[in-house]
Amino acid sequence: MKILGIETTCDETAAAIVAHDEEGGASILANEVLSQIAEHAAYGGVVPEIAARAHVEVLDRLIDRALDRAGLGLDDLDGIAVAAGPGLIGGVLIGLVTAKTLALVTRKPLLAVNHLEAHALTARLTDGLAFPYLLLLASGGHTQLVAVKGVGQYVRLGGTIDDAIGEAFDKVAKLLGLGYPGGPEVERMAEAGDPERFGLPRPMLGRREADFSLSGLKTALRIEAERIAPLAERDVADLCASFQAAITDVVVDRARVALRAFSGVAGHPTALVAAGGVSANGAIRRALASLAGEAGLAFVAPPLQLCGDNGAMIAWAGLERLRLGLTDDLTVPARARWPF
Ligand code: KG4
Ligand code: ZN
Repeated sequence: MKILGIETTCDETAAAIVAHDEEGGASILANEVLSQIAEHAAYGGVVPEIAARAHVEVLDRLIDRALDRAGLGLDDLDGIAVAAGPGLIGGVLIGLVTAKTLALVTRKPLLAVNHLEAHALTARLTDGLAFPYLLLLASGGHTQLVAVKGVGQYVRLGGTIDDAIGEAFDKVAKLLGLGYPGGPEVERMAEAGDPERFGLPRPMLGRREADFSLSGLKTALRIEAERIAPLAERDVADLCASFQAAITDVVVDRARVALRAFSGVAGHPTALVAAGGVSANGAIRRALASLAGEAGLAFVAPPLQLCGDNGAMIAWAGLERLRLGLTDDLTVPARARWPF
């Protein structure tokens, strides 16, 4: 089975081809990603209208490139998968209309994939992981702890009541005058910093529900930054290190609570899985790996190029859905919001 996957929900335009055969397992035949970071950097965040225009300009060529790289033509595909949301609606529409057109002219099945579900299923593409597993999905727009029981079977164990984790990284980076997106910048600065210089709060620590609240942490950091302004490079590094340490403690504590709740809804997990852009963060990865170790579980996180938004995860989620006969027709809507 060979599936084309299209991703245009935010600021990456991506097209990929994933193949699966019963003997050889899954493989990524092409994974083309064009980031629009440069186009949005001046604004310190993603501008929806700029994003949509940029997707239109490059998507068809990117699909051609993915097909070339895989040595395939459109007729060789078994299905066309696309992220139909959640995301910036202008971008989602461009991906969806493109996918519908391709499905119409090639008469191949259309697979309208939830972007979050695609992040959630990536560990099955990369590691052949069996259900059920505990997922921490942490990106720029989403923070959730989810029991993944099967394709389409997700039980939410916790989420954020204010900022998403990636959003908190991005806001802190902006506040400290670092570049966009903020996560990688904060992580880079934190390497040289002292994580204990600022005693930042660990919101929600010890709470019985696996929820997050991060806006207080961000505010505490702002107050410290204003107190010691003007900031030298050393101060910025120490603030980044202190912030990253606080958020890592919170993530581990919340994941521990979710692990405890897991058996009540889904039995024994096969693994603890991290997905979404934030799972690229080394400190968070190491801390989650050690939590999994304590619990006697495997820790699985996608390789870095599959942590952020990409087409391979969309193709894979489409493939999983196609195997179950979960195809869509041409009336399927683009969704700005789409809980999973
Ligand atoms: O999944 P993703 O690529 O896009 C969304 O669907 O949001 O996630 C992007 C988010 C951004 O907020 C970015 O700052 C964050 O992931 N991120 C990181 C790191 N790399 C990306 N956060 C912390 N540490 C990182 N190394
Ligand atoms: Zn994402």
